[in-house]
Amino acid sequence: MNAAGAVESQPVVAPLTRAAIFLVATVNPGSDSRAAVRAFCGDIAGLVRAVGFRDLDGRLSCVMGVGSDAWDRLFGPKRPAELHPFREIRAGSRHAVATAGDLLFHIRAERMDLCFELATQIVTRLGPAIACVDEVQGFRYFEDRDLLGFVDGTENPAGAAAREAALVGAEDAAFAGGSYAVTQKYLHDLAAWNALPTEAQERIIGRTKLSDIELDDATKPSSAHNALTVIVENGQEMQILRDNMPFGSPSKGEFGTYFMGYARSPRIIEQMLENMFVGRPPGNYDRLLDFSRAVTGGLFFAPSLSFLESLAPEAPEAAPTPMPPARDGSLRIGSLKGDPRP
Ligand code: HEM
Repeated sequence: MNAAGAVESQPVVAPLTRAAIFLVATVNPGSDSRAAVRAFCGDIAGLVRAVGFRDLDGRLSCVMGVGSDAWDRLFGPKRPAELHPFREIRAGSRHAVATAGDLLFHIRAERMDLCFELATQIVTRLGPAIACVDEVQGFRYFEDRDLLGFVDGTENPAGAAAREAALVGAEDAAFAGGSYAVTQKYLHDLAAWNALPTEAQERIIGRTKLSDIELDDATKPSSAHNALTVIVENGQEMQILRDNMPFGSPSKGEFGTYFMGYARSPRIIEQMLENMFVGRPPGNYDRLLDFSRAVTGGLFFAPSLSFLESLAPEAPEAAPTPMPPARDGSLRIGSLKGDPRP
């Protein structure tokens, strides 16, 4: 709770940044691992403050999400109403894979060094309690474009609309202020994509490439990416909040988009995925998927900060073995922490 007694969310609705790290980990077996992760939940905000204070203009933030299988183990049977494992989709040659992941850390900042430092602190702090299964370092590309050359993020909701789209409300009061996060790592066949004429690419995305203007209804096919990802229920468009990031490794021929979507219900993102992979109607699928394949897929719940910070006092039996004071009196925060080795 904040000073006014209101639930405080994690920084889900944060402005787009120039750099990001997407870290996915599994929690190792054993009660020590469970206790270490629980204790960490209460400390994450302090850790972000400590690293972020090194450059306040760097706008460092971190959202921590927890997967369905890990939820009960970490926090008990009371769980967010719609949390479940990522549902894979197979349709023709298209496959939205589900991959392992108990914890998601979505780290954002204006500078990669801040992201890198925080990721290092998190991994060091959780140590043997977790096993990292994926790490992607994303960067902002020219004019907010993805590596396919199109501006990505234009139609994102902002301000109150973003909070409305991304944060759970009264429909699940015990978890209000939380957010469902879907992640997918996509790899592009850039050579095949670049061989397409620009007009064909524009019909696939549904916007012009250079000027980023939406194609008019007469020109835009019903299979366009921005047609299939528009969900209207009871006359109202159901929005999600995206923070996709390009990533890659030219020397390995790897060019990708890390899809990061937040929503107050996973159902909305799942419907978009269904439309993209299966098609609306079935068969009328997203042609982007002829050039991009998903190699990871995860669904997480990012509980409110208030929830995370309330954990330790509620379950003292789960507290981890306290760390002995550092010999130099250091608080073990930030990269100037004391050496934890005996
Ligand atoms: C290879 C992966 C992807 C790429 C490169 C990509 C790229 C884009 C681009 C260029 C746009 C148009 C500009 C904009 O409004 O942001 C867009 C729009 C959008 N995308 Fe994606 N996207 C990808 C995956 C996804 C996935 C997996 C979803 C949802 C499950 C999704 C949901 C949306 C939505 C909701 C819009 C806005 C539609 C509108 O209101 O006009 N995208 N995407």
